[in-house]
Amino acid sequence: MSTHRYDIIIVGAGGAGLFAALAASQDPNVSVAVVSKLYPTRSHTGAAQGGIGAALGNLEEDSWEWHMFDTVKGADYLADQDAVEILCREAVDIVYELEHMGLPFSRTEDGKIAQRPFGGHTKNFGEGPVKRSCYAADRTGHMILQTLYQQCIKNNVVFYDEYHVLDLIIEKEQCVGVVAAEIETSELATFHAKAVLLATGGNGRMFSITSNAHALTGDGMSMALRNGIPLQDMEFFQFHPTGIYKMGILLSEAARGEGGILRNNLGERFMERYTPTLKDLAPRDMVSRFIHKEVTEGRGIDGKDYVHLELMHLGKKVIDEKLPDITEFVRVYMGIDPLKDPIPVQPTAHYAMGGVPTNVNSEVVVDEHNKVMPGLYAAGETACVSVHGANRLGTNSLVDILVFGRRAGRSMIEYAKNHSHVPISSDPQEKIKEEMNLWRKGSSKGSLKVGALREELQKKMMRKASVFRVENQLQEMEAEIEVLKEKYKDCYIDDTSKNFNTDLFEAMELGNLLDLSQALVTAAIARKESRGAHSREDYPDRDDKNWLKHSLAYQKNGKIELKTKPVIITKFQPKERKY
Ligand code: FUM
Repeated sequence: MSTHRYDIIIVGAGGAGLFAALAASQDPNVSVAVVSKLYPTRSHTGAAQGGIGAALGNLEEDSWEWHMFDTVKGADYLADQDAVEILCREAVDIVYELEHMGLPFSRTEDGKIAQRPFGGHTKNFGEGPVKRSCYAADRTGHMILQTLYQQCIKNNVVFYDEYHVLDLIIEKEQCVGVVAAEIETSELATFHAKAVLLATGGNGRMFSITSNAHALTGDGMSMALRNGIPLQDMEFFQFHPTGIYKMGILLSEAARGEGGILRNNLGERFMERYTPTLKDLAPRDMVSRFIHKEVTEGRGIDGKDYVHLELMHLGKKVIDEKLPDITEFVRVYMGIDPLKDPIPVQPTAHYAMGGVPTNVNSEVVVDEHNKVMPGLYAAGETACVSVHGANRLGTNSLVDILVFGRRAGRSMIEYAKNHSHVPISSDPQEKIKEEMNLWRKGSSKGSLKVGALREELQKKMMRKASVFRVENQLQEMEAEIEVLKEKYKDCYIDDTSKNFNTDLFEAMELGNLLDLSQALVTAAIARKESRGAHSREDYPDRDDKNWLKHSLAYQKNGKIELKTKPVIITKFQPKERKY
């Protein structure tokens, strides 16, 4: 049995994992390793396009309090305001830290970091859009990954690339490591640690139209769920308004930040009707809902379920300098020249506001009283701290991964310095070995392909639990998931080999997606109100009296049981959201 021993193990090599590793590597007496199913620079942070929100005030006055207000309001008041304050204060310093590491930000004429407007970000508590997003053309996430990875290599962080982490090792209610399989060989390895960070990203692959890469199967969230840890606010899943029609590939909000306009089949700039102050730059939950409304009321283009994003008027210089990647996607995938023609777009599943609950030091908490599970940390989209509440503002995911990734690294150093390795009492690989063998052996017996079942789940989730929700459809979906889980037991894989058996890993990932879909749908049925990205046609109003609280979903005997916990409110009392 192969066992590796480090003080700190970081699962996932996106922005949160890499920043945590970098922060932890500052202490030469603490050993750190990153275990990731992807080669680090292929992590999904690389797909983040439009920028990092930080109140630098380089082009116009700005303040972290305005950023905090926007984040809380954008979250429909479900965010914990102590965490939001940290997010917005530390955003400023973290952008400069990245600049000093060499991140190639776009620049103003006088050499400062360039900033542009983004959805829901305003000046003076809602007066109008503000230039807050710090960007590197439309490749900001890509640049973050490259920069952080280089810094980690410089600091001798050890990487286990293409190791798929499959389970947590829990001893006496504390986390002491993980079990992973090397993708090349399927050999299992135990990583024994004092502190483990889950930074495995989101779970957008539960929907058929998504901006998320194939790898985004909620591995960290579902490992936590299976080990008795609750997931918080899973009913809130964000749909980004501008995915490429039918493909879901992200076209950054930066396109609208630079002046892009949404139009319906009448040529009307319909967002002016709904949110006259911010227009096309309203928060995403709203823009996605209004696109849906235009379509269902017959104003989709050619009677279909999409609208147009117009960039033609921006001109070649702006497009080439500020939006080069997304416009290239449009040329390559759609055969459209964005300088000449409008782009068909529709809402695309983009971001999980919910996840593994943590406190502001990125320690995982396991109940409604915020009891900490020693040795376990979470950061980034896997986690729910909660800074995004019911709806995340664009650019705040990058701020979240950086701020709370760095905090996780610093917290883990302290923990590792003050604790010893806890011995592992029994073979931690046994359960996973059995599961993998079963897939290989059972492969001739099942009747359904994993890919077919995954597609069924994704299409049904898209129809019944996406932008708009209603009780009977959610209940149907809850029952469907039970059926899909039964069918899952009857699935088979073609490949029985041990080398690069992606069939096998995808089969196990589908198990994760099924568990997480169940958590989302059960929590969505329970929440009888509309708030942020959770929009119930049968309960159209926000209900602060009964529902200004977080949900906690626990897995018990294959079902989901729900509890709630209070929202932390410090500076901003809930108000009606008008833009
Ligand atoms: O639209 C975008 O560039 C996406 C940014 C984000 O999700 O924060």
